[in-house]
Amino acid sequence: MTRLRDLLLRWLLVPTLALWLISATVGYLRSLALAHEAYDRTLLGSALVIGERLSVQSGQIVVDLPYAALAMLRTDTQDSIFYRVATLADGRHITGYADLPPPSTPLGSEPLFYDATYKGQHIRVVALAWSVVGDSQPQTLTVQVAETMDARRQLTRRIVSESAVMQLLLIAAAAGLIGLGVRRGLAPLKRLRDDVRARDANDLTSIDTHRVPREVVPLINAINVHTERQRQLSDAQARFIANASHQLKTPLTVLRAQVDHALQQNDHEAMRTVVQSVHQSTQATQRVMNQLLSLARSEPGRPLDIEALDLTALAREQTFDMLALARAKSIDLGFEGELPVPVRGEPVLLRELVNNLVHNAISYTPPGGHVTVRVSQCDGRAHLGVIDNGPGIPPEERPRVFERFYRGAATSAHGTGLGLAIVKEICDRHQIEITIVDDPSGKGLSIQLIWPPTDPPHA
Ligand SMILES: Nc1ncnc2c1ncn2[C@@H]1O[C@H](COP(=O)(O)OP(=O)(O)OP(=O)(O)O)[C@@H](O)[C@H]1O
Ligand SMILES: [Mg+2]
Repeated sequence: MTRLRDLLLRWLLVPTLALWLISATVGYLRSLALAHEAYDRTLLGSALVIGERLSVQSGQIVVDLPYAALAMLRTDTQDSIFYRVATLADGRHITGYADLPPPSTPLGSEPLFYDATYKGQHIRVVALAWSVVGDSQPQTLTVQVAETMDARRQLTRRIVSESAVMQLLLIAAAAGLIGLGVRRGLAPLKRLRDDVRARDANDLTSIDTHRVPREVVPLINAINVHTERQRQLSDAQARFIANASHQLKTPLTVLRAQVDHALQQNDHEAMRTVVQSVHQSTQATQRVMNQLLSLARSEPGRPLDIEALDLTALAREQTFDMLALARAKSIDLGFEGELPVPVRGEPVLLRELVNNLVHNAISYTPPGGHVTVRVSQCDGRAHLGVIDNGPGIPPEERPRVFERFYRGAATSAHGTGLGLAIVKEICDRHQIEITIVDDPSGKGLSIQLIWPPTDPPHA
């Protein structure tokens, strides 16, 4: 695991050191050019001094140049100085160092500076054309003055090394400050770590984002969202356990009493009657069990297993599964819907949803009634309607029928009041709109479900 401080330092130091290297190289070249400029000017001064001291006497060129005069022109004495005077026209040597390298290009009116090697040393040379007028014809001479380059190089090195050391010190100081800044910046996170460590295992409240650096807030928010999901999940589990134990207690007590009663029977027929009621109770208990499991499945917080489905096929299958129940109550159960209607959802939950609605319609519609399940598609949205001609739900009860364990006041059929609560939770999880539609005839119940628009098929 990389430490944030090391990461920052690496990202900052490596490029900065590379930049420092480039800057030192550029600085060296620039300082060298400036040193050349300054020293060249002095060198030219020396050449001009020599020029001034040239004269023609009795047709002979005379140079009155004591060495001291040259030495005086120099500000430092670590470099060796060489000079030479020759005729410009034919290069005839007059005075100085005869083998001093001549300029490679012809001299004009401007002095010429160039680098050369002399006696194994790098030298800088200035050459200029100088006219001397004597008693005879004016003569043009080449005056060259050269010097070794130690002083310039030393000056350049000094300038560059001083500034490079300064820059390095600055970089080191910046690195130190970054380390310090990171430590201070992370201090609130350390406090947060201690707070979280000290928390109770059941404490699933959100972490306060006010005391952490702004950059970390999205992370804390994500953790808070996760914790909130955990809290919902754990609340749902607690609710489920409470519901399950409450709902199973009664049917199990009844079952136990029935079994006890059956055991006391000696007569085969009487025992058969009791066992039949045990069978019915077992079915009812099984239904409650299934409902509780559906409730646990549809709880918010649990991820859904979404699939692409054909609602027509799913609803038809569920309706046909209820045919026996409808027949037993002499209810005419019909299904309307021919074309496939695509929806997305978790198949188990959608089956449970249809099952609960049709079960209600059959349970509450008196014998001889009609129940119709209708699937259609309108404006790209799937519609499912469960319509019966039973007693309907009175308007004042409608807001409450989706609550868990709520049962209508005039309800006679067996039930626990979980069916519509399950339907509502499944609808919420799938963003399905659910409405109790008023039947124009004023009798019966019509429950309408409308799915969110399906994505257009990919071209
Ligand atoms: N089709 C219907 N016709 C008339 N009343 C209905 C219909 N469907 C539901 N109800 C009323 O709404 C109440 C709540 O229904 P819900 O399905 O939630 O519970 P239940 O049917 O009583 O029990 P459970 O479905 O858990 O066995 C019912 O008790 C009933 O009064
Ligand atoms: Mg019901």
